[in-house]
Order: sequence, then C-alpha cells, then structure tokens
Amino acid sequence: VRTQSDYLYRPTVHFSPQTGFMNDPNGLIFDGQTYHLYYQYDPFAPYAGQVHWGHATSTDLYTWQDQPIAIDQTAAGEAYSGCVVLDRNNDSGLFPPKAPPPTQGDTPPAPKTATQAAVEALAPGLTKATSDVPFSPENMDVLGPGTNAPFGHVFDPPTTAELPPAAPSVPPLPSMPGGLVALYTRATPQKQTQYLAWSPDGGKRFIDYEHNPVLDIGLNSFRDPKVFWHQPSGKWVMVVVKARAHRVAFYGSIDLKHWMHLSDFGPAGLFGVDYECPNLIELQVEDEGKTSRWVLFVSVNPGGPQGGSVTQYFVGDFDGERFIPENTVIGLTDFAKDSYAMQVYENMPGKEAVYFAWFGNWQYCEEVPNRSWRGLMTLPRTLSLRRDDMNWLRLVQRPRGLETLRGEQIPFRVERIAAQSGVQVSIPTGQAIELSLTVTVDERRNPQPDGNKGRAGRFLIVFSNGQGESLSIGFDAFSAQLWLDRGDLHGFSQPFFTERFSTPLTANSRRFSLKLVLDACALEIFINDGLSVGTALVFPASPLDTLSLQATNAGATIENLSLYPLRKTMDR
Ligand code: FRU
Repeated sequence: VRTQSDYLYRPTVHFSPQTGFMNDPNGLIFDGQTYHLYYQYDPFAPYAGQVHWGHATSTDLYTWQDQPIAIDQTAAGEAYSGCVVLDRNNDSGLFPPKAPPPTQGDTPPAPKTATQAAVEALAPGLTKATSDVPFSPENMDVLGPGTNAPFGHVFDPPTTAELPPAAPSVPPLPSMPGGLVALYTRATPQKQTQYLAWSPDGGKRFIDYEHNPVLDIGLNSFRDPKVFWHQPSGKWVMVVVKARAHRVAFYGSIDLKHWMHLSDFGPAGLFGVDYECPNLIELQVEDEGKTSRWVLFVSVNPGGPQGGSVTQYFVGDFDGERFIPENTVIGLTDFAKDSYAMQVYENMPGKEAVYFAWFGNWQYCEEVPNRSWRGLMTLPRTLSLRRDDMNWLRLVQRPRGLETLRGEQIPFRVERIAAQSGVQVSIPTGQAIELSLTVTVDERRNPQPDGNKGRAGRFLIVFSNGQGESLSIGFDAFSAQLWLDRGDLHGFSQPFFTERFSTPLTANSRRFSLKLVLDACALEIFINDGLSVGTALVFPASPLDTLSLQATNAGATIENLSLYPLRKTMDR
C-alpha cells in the first residue's frame, strides 16, 4: 500500500529503497568501475526486522540500479552490518582458479537465494531486484495499523514508470586471482559473531565461508566489522565493536580467516548504550602538505547529546596495533540528529575518503510518516581535516559531485538585505534544490546594551508554503551561532523528533558561508566549507515552494548566491 506520504517524502538525489526498511550503509566499495552500496534491509516490512543486505550499484554515486539481495537472513541469524574488501590476491584462498572470461550469454544464472525465492513466490512475475518487493498480505500483521491508509488489501504492483531500469549485471572485476569479500555480523539474540563470505560474481551474491564464524568471542554484542588493508604493517586490520562494553576492538589477519586481537580502545567520549559501526581512516590535513591523521569514528546509540543516535570521532594515530588519540577531545560529525552509522568507501582512487551515512535516528526511524519505504542515505560526502580559527583540527565534510546534478540556475539575485526586510523566490517542488551563499551581517549600530534588542542582527533562510508551514535556518550574528528549526512543519510529530538544533560557527565573526540541499524529507547543511554539518529529516505536510532570505535588526550583505535544481543524469 502506497500512501501520499510515500510519494511526498521520496527524495530524488538521495538513495532510498523502493520498498521496505533500510538502515546502515554496508560494504561500501569501488571495484574499479562500479560503486557498490549494500545496506541493512528488511524487504518485508517498514520496520527493522529480518535483516538482510540490500544492494545497489552506481557509476556516479547518485544514479542507482537496484540489485538482488546480496546476503540473506539465514538460520544462523540476521545479516547485520559489515564491510566489503577487495581481496585482490586471493589472500583468503576462497576464490577458485579463474577460467578465461566467459563470452557474453555464457554465464549460467546464479542460483536463487532463499529470500529471492520467497519474494518470487509472493509476487510471481516480479523478477526484478528484490528491493522492489511489495508488501504482501502475509506481512500485514507486521505492518500494523496505518496512519494514512487502511491496510488489508494487496499492494498495487508499481507501474513501469515507477520502476528503475532493469538491473544490468555488475561488470566483472578485471581478471585478478581474488575478488570481493564481505565481513559482516551474524546476529541472534544469544550471539553476535563475524562471518566471512566471498562473491563469485563481482558482488551480486556472497557465499559464506564454510568454517564460519571467523571471529566468535562469546558475546551477544560484538558487531559491525570494518576491514582495511594496512600497508605499513602488511596486514588486514579489522575494527569492530564490543557494543555494550563501549569498546572498539582491533584485530589483524593475513588471510581474512584467522584474526588476532591487537588492542581495545575505549570507553571513550560518549558513554551511551551501544557503540556501533566503527570506521578508522587516514585523512589529509588540508593546506598542510602531506600531513595526515588517523580518525576513528564510533557511532553511539542511544546516548547522543541531541538525543538517540550520534557519531563521534577521535583524531590521532594508528601504529598498526593501537589507535592513540592525540587528545581527550571528541568531535561529533553532526549538529542535528539524523546522520548515523557512517561508512567510508574502500578502494577509492587516490585514497579519496568518501562516505555515506544512514539518514536517520533510531528514536523515530520506524515511525516516520512514509510507510511503504523507510530509510535513506545522506549525500555522498568527502572527508578531510582542517584547522579552524582556534587552530583546532576538525573534520571537514563536503557533498561530492553536486555540480554534475545541477539543472539551469534559478534566477535569484540578492546582494543586500536591509534590516527588517526580506526577499523571496519561488522554488520548484518535486525535485531537490541546492542553495549556496555567503552572508555578512552588518555591525551593530544600535547603542543599546547587549542582551537587549541592541544585539546584532539575525539572518534567516526560510522555506515555506501557503499552508503556514516553514523550515528555517537562522544565524545570530551577536553570538556567531546558527540554528535549524523544523518545528513549524506539520507532517510528523513524535516526542523524540526534536525541533531545533544549533551550532557555534567562527567565534566573533558576523560572516559565514553555507551550502544546503533540500530534497523532499532530506535537509543537509554544510557551513563554512564543511566545518559544521547539520543533517535533518523534515516532514512538511505540503511541499515547500517559497524560499526567503530575511534580515532582522541589522542588514546583511550576500555574496556568491546560487540556487539550482538538482537532477540525476538518468532523469534528464
Ligand atoms: C546500527 C546497527 C548496527 C547493527 C545494525 C542492525 O544502526 O544497530 O550495530 O549491525 O544496525 O541492523
């Protein structure tokens, strides 16, 4: 059953599953030709439940082809989060000797996985990717009562126009002895253990290693392995969490099958309930030549200062055995609360650090108003480090490749906004938009004391509609802080769906730059070239069709203003 909300909140440039529930990105890897995005996925219900690995492929990180389920839930447990690495030299020994590449049409069809077979039984004729699986009457009890539409009748199969083009096969990896290998967690209520699986077909299917698990320490909260090749010490390194013990554990291996414990890190930073989805990566420090640092990311849920799910990071060094933070400071990747369980792409050319995070928060992800599909990813973002005005090393996040999506610029010329005034422009609905600008708020002329209306001005960016809804981003020049307010939108309310978030910007500065992308239910804000980032789900009851810029108390000067609709190449 699709409801109006399912259409209204469906993003266009952010990845979302056709149906079902999605959370963490998994197995992010560039195989030389194709970007793979695997993800935590329940194809049967709009709730986290029977966890499989969904799969999609892309050549630009925006236009995705749905692929069949890559790893099933099995009798051994659900397929929880994990990673994929390119086992180029067949270190695992799992890849059979390669025959000469088959000519097209020769490849026998891959045997169906249990889920694919179940799905075909539910929806005969629907031989497409399993992420297009409709909900079935058998699953209605898990769906629960709908808020927007009654359940109880069978899902209408999507029309051809709604379906993405049929999935082409993933191109074969260039001939090499090995291939793609997944390391992921099998989870039952009693145990969480690490599994190894290899792909015979470039990432479509994964076959479990016969002597799994490869890592079992008898815990039921031991999960989310992320593996990378550590060149200086010549071994594979796994970062994994002992979730309830608030520890990140490091293991080393030369064959991906046998793992040796190297060290533990933590508890550190936020305590929270569970540590999840760790990532360790070396990042460049911008403008400092070849200087780099190792950065350890740890997602924590619940226990974020903004509520629920949050990702913290530590800056330091990794010597092949231990992560040594260079101070006791923790950073948070976001000042809002809808960016979680980030994972960095493996095997990127030039070691570019690109990641996706799940655009959600466990506090309300299973109750958001869209129902036939739930969950989306953030935009792909690049990561680096930069010193801020206090000489502090901070994470920098920038959306990657937006230029390639831009349509014709929306005319909107504003250079100056006088105090107590504003300007507005209509924006297209049903597609994403990108707004960029640099703002300098006038110095205070008013002689009244601070703490009074004599404060410097505020500058607002407001998206609104004729139904009295508004979404605003505001800057207070007196305190050099920015806020985001999603409280005047009427599409969703829930106790944990908090309305306002804020972040300090450059102290004592009345100037800031901002880039934002608004795409149906997704708002991402990148301030001061990626130093502060806010990721927020937004649920207007009707589309927001007007953008206005407003100045209160003091005027503002605007530079570098641009406004673009964003479209995937496929839609052009
Ligand atoms: C993080 C997480 C992981 C786990 C997965 C289950 O959001 O809880 O720790 O592997 O989701 O779907």
